[in-house]
Amino acid sequence: MSDLKSKTVTASAPAKVILFGEHFVVYGQPAIVLAIDKRASATAQMRKDTRISIDSGDLGVAGIFKGERYQAKKGGIKGRVKLEPVRSVILQVLERAEKKKGIDVHIQSDIPVSAGLGSSAAVATSTVLAVSTLLGMELPKPEIFRIAYESERLVHGTPSGIDPAISTYGGALQFQRDKDFVNLNIEANIPLVVGNTEVQRSTGELVARVRQMNDKFPSIMRLMVVTSARIASEGVEALRTGNLQTVGTLMNINHALLCAIDVSHESLERLVHTARKSGAYGAKLTGGGGGGCMIALAEEKKLGKVMAAIQKAGGTAFQARKTDEGLRLER
Ligand code: MEV
Repeated sequence: MSDLKSKTVTASAPAKVILFGEHFVVYGQPAIVLAIDKRASATAQMRKDTRISIDSGDLGVAGIFKGERYQAKKGGIKGRVKLEPVRSVILQVLERAEKKKGIDVHIQSDIPVSAGLGSSAAVATSTVLAVSTLLGMELPKPEIFRIAYESERLVHGTPSGIDPAISTYGGALQFQRDKDFVNLNIEANIPLVVGNTEVQRSTGELVARVRQMNDKFPSIMRLMVVTSARIASEGVEALRTGNLQTVGTLMNINHALLCAIDVSHESLERLVHTARKSGAYGAKLTGGGGGGCMIALAEEKKLGKVMAAIQKAGGTAFQARKTDEGLRLER
């Protein structure tokens, strides 16, 4: 018989890059998002008491929640706010299980944090799967998505839900708020380099900045929102036919639109322009912007050159592959 107290369950979920439509997706427009081959994992174990202990290697923060009280183990008292979203998903799962149990969750991740690659959503979805499985529940994916989405609201205010959707389902999705997403089943290889400016930022603050722009210039914003939708739909066409040159050009147009709503950053501009100069088909910021990451699309044989150019311009870089594997249990 397995001893529940010593049993551990590990689940993992992928990072993502947005090819088209970030920010405008918050206003109901479609965005195209790919899961990539970097993952976060959560390992859950029962405790003998009713506390919740969370240890996040990637955030450098650990602590124990006893009711509303917080005892820091690593990263000081300020670390609490970084662990709240994880605690929120654990509490939501316990509530659904109608159990008052203590849980230990250990998080490990190779996804850069606060960089626009969906690290918080990957942590949230894998925590939901690990904890629910530990408690003997089989939550359907839409339910896991909903729980992670609730916790994303703690991290960044009015999220569209794109990050928890892609980390749950993987692959390439066309995501639109309040609509069923479309799995794009893209056959073409999409050779990408991700460049990280290493400038950390908060997606919530950037979403709020765009909201101010929308309040001040509603009619201009409306036109840009429509343009973003057009870019996304032509982007899907080009991806389906494997026309990477057109995909790259549309990425450049999309980046210009993101500059117009003031979510780029000088560090991003440097990397985007360097990538284009070194032969990429196209390059744009990805995710919230304001720092964080950019992506460059290039012919397979040019990926090394583009990556080296990004590194020379001060970014860290890696090649990314689309992965069809969303959230999964680890054996
Ligand atoms: C974040 O990955 C993408 C944004 O559009 C915010 C969101 O959709 O929640 C900037």
